[in-house]
Amino acid sequence: MVVTPWEVSGEIDYEKLIREFGTKPLTDDLLERLGRYAGGLHMMLRRRVFFSHRDLDLILDAYDDGREFILYTGRGPSGQTHLGHLIPWIFTKHLQDVFSAKLYFQFTDDEKFLISHELTREKAMALTYENALDVMAVGFDPERTILISNMRNAGLMYNRAIEIARHVTLSTAKAVFGFKDSSNIGIIFFPALQAVPCFLESIFEERDVPCLIPAAIDQDPYWRIARDVAPKLGFSKPAQIHCRFLPGLGKGGKMSSSMPETCIFTTDDPKSIERKIMNAFTGGGSTISEHRERGGRPQECPIFLYEYLLFEEDDAKVGELMDKCRRGEILCGECKAIVAEKVKRFIERHQEMRERARGMIEDLFLDRYLERRGIRA
Ligand code: TYM
Repeated sequence: MVVTPWEVSGEIDYEKLIREFGTKPLTDDLLERLGRYAGGLHMMLRRRVFFSHRDLDLILDAYDDGREFILYTGRGPSGQTHLGHLIPWIFTKHLQDVFSAKLYFQFTDDEKFLISHELTREKAMALTYENALDVMAVGFDPERTILISNMRNAGLMYNRAIEIARHVTLSTAKAVFGFKDSSNIGIIFFPALQAVPCFLESIFEERDVPCLIPAAIDQDPYWRIARDVAPKLGFSKPAQIHCRFLPGLGKGGKMSSSMPETCIFTTDDPKSIERKIMNAFTGGGSTISEHRERGGRPQECPIFLYEYLLFEEDDAKVGELMDKCRRGEILCGECKAIVAEKVKRFIERHQEMRERARGMIEDLFLDRYLERRGIRA
């Protein structure tokens, strides 16, 4: 198993990641607490899509004491957005609604430029705006959402990043990210930039405002650096809540833009969605009679997992589907047809929201926000 910000491969053992990364499991106590604020547990918590955290308890303690916190998450614009990316964003929107929290959303166009030889700077920037449409299509409150493009907002971001970078040695960066002598020096500096938004609200408000980061667990190395440096700059350590990965449509592995045929992109047309889903790997038997006799393995099946992790909110319905699959009562073709319809409807709605977001994006970038607030930073 390899889980880094730039590579996720092998059979992912989430319990082992908690041990290796030194995070904490989301306990029943914490879930109950989260459920109390929201008046019920979000599906992604009930199903343990979010399974691990750091200092979530401290964030909730601060909130109970009447202190607000900010949310921070992001996207590395290397291509169009896929369904996997939406998992942390949908849950972040839920947290924004429940806690009326401000969200800083970072686009690391610089990171993607630095690690990909195919991407020009112009293309990386253009993808930031494309991906921003998807972010706002999820339904974030524009009054409480600030978009950051590392390239567009380079002046402010660079000045804050050097304050962080000065506290991070090359040996720490190598140990955390596995950088080699052949790594370019831009990417070695880059983790300082991903740490900056953790502290922006504190900088603008000139007081310590805690930060909670919802993201998949692949981003965790960045937070080790940010947490190490935070007290040296007089800020609280940023807290995290980590989710698991939505699988791709192939056998094993997360949904990843580097394998487009195994991804459902938010810009896909209905025909491509149908084709990709109908060609997907499943957890079913190799023949119909074997499937009827022995049943399928829903927990290894991307089609079932799309229902479980993202689409079917009704626990009873998802439980029934799992049982039917295990007993061989539903065939993979039938299941694929049901899920293909749901995905098509979901993407169609998302594309409408994406178009509606087009007019609002420009005003949400950090430079515009600071202008409106009269903040010089
Ligand atoms: P990126 O663009 O690789 O991923 C964006 C977000 O999606 C999550 N993710 C997934 N979640 C579930 N299933 C998947 N198959 C899947 N693939 C990706 C990632 O964990 C991430 O939350 N360097 C970052 C951009 C970034 C960022 C942040 C992310 C900047 N600041 C703060 C999270 C929080 C990146 O390239 O993400």
